[in-house]
Formats: sequence, structure tokens, C-alpha cells
Amino acid sequence: MNNARKIGEDLYWIGASDRRINLFENIMPVPQGVSYNAYLLKDEKNVLIDTSDNSVSEQFFENLYSLVGDNEKLDYIIVNHVEPDHSSLLCRTAYEYPEAKIICSAQAQKMILQFFDCIATERFITVKEGDKMSFGKHEFTFCTAPMVHWPEVIVSYDITTKTLLARRSTPLLHQHRRQVRHTGTEPFEKGFCIGNKDAMPTSRTHLARKHRLLR
Ligand SMILES: [Fe+2]
Repeated sequence: MNNARKIGEDLYWIGASDRRINLFENIMPVPQGVSYNAYLLKDEKNVLIDTSDNSVSEQFFENLYSLVGDNEKLDYIIVNHVEPDHSSLLCRTAYEYPEAKIICSAQAQKMILQFFDCIATERFITVKEGDKMSFGKHEFTFCTAPMVHWPEVIVSYDITTKTLLARRSTPLLHQHRRQVRHTGTEPFEKGFCIGNKDAMPTSRTHLARKHRLLR
């Protein structure tokens, strides 16, 4: 059964929660588990923002199939971060949707080709700091966050709705813990920033700088 949730204007959360692990990366306690947060923008183009960990593949694809019909195509896949708990379903998704272009940083493209070796080079669209792309009504811009976590990390910002989209376990936003709001008990608000108050100080400084750029 799909559990996709509409969380904003034309925006759906299509991730999954993993309550089986006690330690994230075998180090960080996650008593409530983690959420693998993937999103789908349904505009004139269908845009997938990140995939998920292999352990939740069934739920992820059920959510994706529920929103991208048999007669539709997936136009773009944005890769904010390459680490496998974020991107291990990228190959299968790219295989199932052969027309989808992969949007990521140049560094991420290199890493994807090294890690996965399953996507043709011609399918990549690399973005750098401040690049913009329109998907219809929604215009996105991309901010780089090199070495806040890994060197290839970007965050994606929907200028139209003022929504920042980044992955759960990017320390930039310190999103290791499963998000209560994904239970559906807390509404997402327009312009939300998916960070929390215990974000690391250096990350907060970096993020504040990025927020100034995004305004
Ligand atoms: Fe990571």
C-alpha cells in the first residue's frame, strides 16, 4: 500500500521510514529509526528529488508508481547526495524511467559513475551554485554544500513555493532522526525548512549563509 503524502503545492513525499535500525551508520543512535526522504514534484514535468535506501525499495516504488502513471514519464531525477542510503535506488529508477535526466553536481556525476556505473553520461545535467531550472510553474535553484558532509552535496530550493529540499541524513540539516511530521500528524507549512534545532553549529552557520543566497 502506498503512503505517499501531499506536503505542498504539487509536491509529494514518497519516502519510507526504517524503524529496524538502532544505529545510523553503526554509530549514531536513532531510537525512532530514520526516514529516507524522497519527494516528487508533479508540475508540467515530473521531477523526483532523491531516491532511497535499498532496504525500503518496495515502499519507495509503490509510492512512485502511485503518482507517475503508466502513461506518464519521469522527466528528471535530482540527486542531492550520492551516499547509498540516499541513492541506492537510483540505478533501478533510471532503468525503469529511461527518459529521465539526472540533475546533480559535477562531483556527484563522477561519484555516481564510480559507485553505480549504470547510467549513460549523456543523461546527466550538472548544476553549479545558483543555477536555475524551470519545471513549469515551479522554478528551482541549486546550492552547493561541499564538505559540509560529502563533497558532492547540493540542496534544491523551489523558488516558487520557498521550499528547501535536502536529504534526511545530510548533516547540513542534521536529519538523521525519523521525522514525526512524516507520520502525518504535523502539517508541512509553506516555506518550511527541514532542519531541526540540534543542527550542528558549523552546519547552521553554513546554512544561514545559504539562506541569504536563497532570499
Ligand atoms: Fe550521507
